[in-house]
Amino acid sequence: QKVDMELEAIEKGGFEHFMLKEIFEQPKSIKDCFRGRLIANDGKLVLGGIREYANALTNANRIVIVACGTSWHAGLVAEYIFEEFCRIPVEVEYASEFRYRNPIISEGDIVIAISQSGETADTLAAMELAKSKGAIVLGVCNVVGSSISRVSHEGVYTHAGPEIGVASTKAFTAQLTVLTMIALRVAHRKGTMAEQRYRSLLAELETIPAKVEKALKTDDQVKKIAELFKDARNFLYLGRGYNFPVALEGALKLKEISYIHAEGYPAAEMKHGPIALIDEEMPVVVIATRDSSYDKIVSNIQEVKARKGKVIAIVSEGDSLIPTMVDFTIEVPGTHDALMPMVATIPLQLLSYHIAVMRGCNVDQPRNLAKSVTVE
Ligand code: G6P
Repeated sequence: QKVDMELEAIEKGGFEHFMLKEIFEQPKSIKDCFRGRLIANDGKLVLGGIREYANALTNANRIVIVACGTSWHAGLVAEYIFEEFCRIPVEVEYASEFRYRNPIISEGDIVIAISQSGETADTLAAMELAKSKGAIVLGVCNVVGSSISRVSHEGVYTHAGPEIGVASTKAFTAQLTVLTMIALRVAHRKGTMAEQRYRSLLAELETIPAKVEKALKTDDQVKKIAELFKDARNFLYLGRGYNFPVALEGALKLKEISYIHAEGYPAAEMKHGPIALIDEEMPVVVIATRDSSYDKIVSNIQEVKARKGKVIAIVSEGDSLIPTMVDFTIEVPGTHDALMPMVATIPLQLLSYHIAVMRGCNVDQPRNLAKSVTVE
């Protein structure tokens, strides 16, 4: 018993929980994910895992992404990225829904399965179904040699290292890194992205670990905010565009480990329902970094404030407008819109972590949840 506990302490590397260790590992895990693959100076992306089907992917009429949980959120970000960069229509499906509805899949369709564990039963079944209908199935997995990686025709590993905390953190940012690299590779081959833009995105992707490092420095500030909101009974998370899936993921993290009810919403949909929930008791986390929907999200913040909601805004460094409107601001470094989810998600991971710890929850092994769901 004592030996086990000492071993666990060593594995946690000085952090109180695996989740916190994994959150702080992200600058490294993202780097590990593009090491040897991204050679920004030469404008190169080497994805050895997708060779045989690289042409099929480039010429795909449609991409269907299947996943569950956090991996599904990574899929939603990828939908925006693939559509913008590659001009290929993308559908993102919950694996559990896809597999039971006789989905329309034709030969040559590309199905991308995203999974940290590589063992999720629904995702595996969705892939097998897609394969049986003639689709090409690519895997984005973290666990080498996992069932999903074996069932895929080809794939790209995320190389985030073992993730022990049940709530996924570093696997999510690694998935985003891999999916961004795949999309950039396809866009370049396809010619849907100008060379200069492609090169500048490669260079920007290379800066993400340093930007994540900087976002991690918000930890003390986030902890203070957590102290103020730890007894809240509900939370609303809002974002638009690339930050909409970030809102969903922020809400999922909070409910998974702190058992506070939280909902993520596309900010503009708020007026079709959730706005009725807003009063002075309601914390609303708004991901409002500077991107093409900035002005729109500013109006959404005004709508929340007009109803006395408490707004915690994630903003880009140097934003001078939003801090005058909201209750709390957390600054993260700016980056390209498509890469922002990797940076903006960091303070949300920290917020859920601190709230859960303050509420005395078992952060690494939340009740009723499993790290890998191998049954339906
Ligand atoms: C479980 C885990 C989640 C994870 C989901 C999908 O619910 O608790 O953290 O996002 O499964 O898992 P996968 O391994 O397929 O990414």
